[in-house]
Amino acid sequence: MSENRLTTATGSPVADNQNSQTAGYQGPILMQDVHLIEKLAAFNRERIPERVVHAKGAGAFGYFEVTHDVSEFTRAKFLSTVGKRTPVLIRFSTVAGEKGSADTERDPRGFAIKFYTEEGNYDLVGNNTPVFFIRDPLKFPDFIHSQKRHPVTNCKNPDAIWDFWSLSPESIHQVTILFSNRGTPRTYRHMHGYGSHTFQWVNEAGQGVWVKYHIRTEQGIENWRRHEAVQLAGEDPDYSTRDLFESIQRKEYPEWSVWVQIIPFDEARNYRFDVFDVTQTISQKDYPLIPVGRIVLNRNPDNYFAQIEQAAFSPANVVPGITFSPDKMLQGRLFAYADAHRYRLGINHTQLPVNRPLSPVTNYQRDGAMRVDGNGGDSVYYEPNSFHGPKQDPAASEPGLSLQGLSGSYAYPQNQFYTQAGDLYRLLPESEKTDLIDNIAASLGQAQKNIQLRQIGHFYKADQEYGQRIAEALHLAEAAPTDLQD
Ligand code: HEM
Repeated sequence: MSENRLTTATGSPVADNQNSQTAGYQGPILMQDVHLIEKLAAFNRERIPERVVHAKGAGAFGYFEVTHDVSEFTRAKFLSTVGKRTPVLIRFSTVAGEKGSADTERDPRGFAIKFYTEEGNYDLVGNNTPVFFIRDPLKFPDFIHSQKRHPVTNCKNPDAIWDFWSLSPESIHQVTILFSNRGTPRTYRHMHGYGSHTFQWVNEAGQGVWVKYHIRTEQGIENWRRHEAVQLAGEDPDYSTRDLFESIQRKEYPEWSVWVQIIPFDEARNYRFDVFDVTQTISQKDYPLIPVGRIVLNRNPDNYFAQIEQAAFSPANVVPGITFSPDKMLQGRLFAYADAHRYRLGINHTQLPVNRPLSPVTNYQRDGAMRVDGNGGDSVYYEPNSFHGPKQDPAASEPGLSLQGLSGSYAYPQNQFYTQAGDLYRLLPESEKTDLIDNIAASLGQAQKNIQLRQIGHFYKADQEYGQRIAEALHLAEAAPTDLQD
């Protein structure tokens, strides 16, 4: 008997893996070929639903190391001591494309970090952009529909993409970033990451501050220009995936420094931008970056499906000392991710090795499909109980927010859509301005003329020259001002 024996899923030896069992030479296949039936059935079930967004991605393991003392701001244990290391997993991704789409597509890049801390998993599920297209979760499904395929043609639809953006002027800041060359990063290693939302840190004394995360690449920012990205999409659609894997294999470990902006509660109330509006940044002149630590990725996955496809990141996964803010988008995301995981991976996805925390999980949740962790064995299975079962720990609670007012569907009080987009445009060197105009014209030019005119109106409002140059690139510079709708 061979040591390395092929078996069925139930462990019994397989006699023949080359020839199906048939009723005689050239006869039909027999039902009793249980190995064949099991093999075909397992194959039919290999695919799970891909992520509804961020389906194409790549990831690696490594560590986060604290380099600076931030304990005056947060009591998070993994941030408590300089030199302390915490294992991490990062998954990078594009957003709108399917699992087989090209890595160099123009798109924001996902930058999802799982910190396996001693007090449970902390997930920072960010992007490579500090802002987002919309600021209310109610608009997210419509926004994503506009980016995905047309229900009849099954093709991407420039009308839908630009119709949505032109009717959602809060998107113009992120649209400006997306159509700059930052929309086509050279690799996953050559880009920054951002938490994007404002979060809350709470210290030992129970005092909270608002916090924004900045994860800065040590490899330097490098981007493709449009034609390079388009060419690579055809020639090497897995370019960034392979780059990440091979650089780690070569022991060129990619590294990022981790920084935060800290905004005191009372200053946030009167800040010139709404700090809970994810379409706006907070100026680094007003709130400079404070160093926290560094992240190094030094281990490739042993198996892509097991460790990257099955990875489940959620902004709801926080640890004591880190909590949420009233940012509506963040609040919507607190529901959306675990719900997506229950659909995509099942209720017990937290028991998969890649998602399991390093710290013990002690609760009264039992049963459910594919329970694999022993299901609590003979331990007490309800609470309160007299049998020394796990108990709540009030020390884990975070201070409440003082709120007032009537419930209702409120618009954001501030509509400064154009200020930061215009500032960003004016900040770009001339060569990047030229690329930005060219990138926008190539895409917007595919939409209907009335949509082009509406969108050009927004670019004008961000910066007169910005709008003018796009209008000229689209041969619409002669349009009457009344054509340029809001
Ligand atoms: C993935 C929803 C906004 C970053 C996902 C997934 C859903 C989702 C359902 C798939 C999760 C999975 O199957 O594992 C939403 C909703 C949003 C929103 C409802 C707004 C209300 C954002 C924002 C960011 C972001 C603002 C970044 C700042 C990501 C990333 C992933 C992701 C990085 C991929 C995570 C991974 O690698 O597994 N989002 N999203 N999303 N989202 Fe969002």
